[in-house]
Amino acid sequence: METKTLTKQPQKSGQKVDKRFKILEVTMKRNHYRQDALIEILHKAQEAFGYLEPDVLEYVAHALKLPLSRVYGVATFYHLFSLKPSGKHTCVVCLGTACYVKGSDKILAALQQELGIKSGETTADKQISLLSARCLGACGIAPAVVFDGEVTGKQTAENVLEKIKNWQQHGEP
Ligand code: FES
Repeated sequence: METKTLTKQPQKSGQKVDKRFKILEVTMKRNHYRQDALIEILHKAQEAFGYLEPDVLEYVAHALKLPLSRVYGVATFYHLFSLKPSGKHTCVVCLGTACYVKGSDKILAALQQELGIKSGETTADKQISLLSARCLGACGIAPAVVFDGEVTGKQTAENVLEKIKNWQQHGEP
């Protein structure tokens, strides 16, 4: 299993950059940082992250020069957007093409079966939220899964189930 720790925010040159933020940056640039492209940009952000976490909403608000309240307003108004899920832990499985062809659908299926929930749901004990994304920008280490914000690659159903069991048994990150 290969692990890649990526920082949450874009960094200066020479430092590691979370590729999911790069995807977001490219989308905003393509839209010329237009405020009226907010919905499209949030949509892309959700595809990359699986859900809209506070860091992402702040990043978008800052880049588009919009009040954070407006970005939150849009993100909470439309049902197609999900804000940070309620589970203590979050697990996001990438279902983008590169990951899918390497079996990420089987990883998601194994998780759904083990946890008894579907993607987009949280376990009844509020321990784990399960989500999917459509390309984390880490195709080189496909199939990729994000555990509590940490992008990990070359995953298998066995590895992922083991990680989940640790969370369940020890509450470990
Ligand atoms: S398709 Fe999964 S990281 Fe790109």
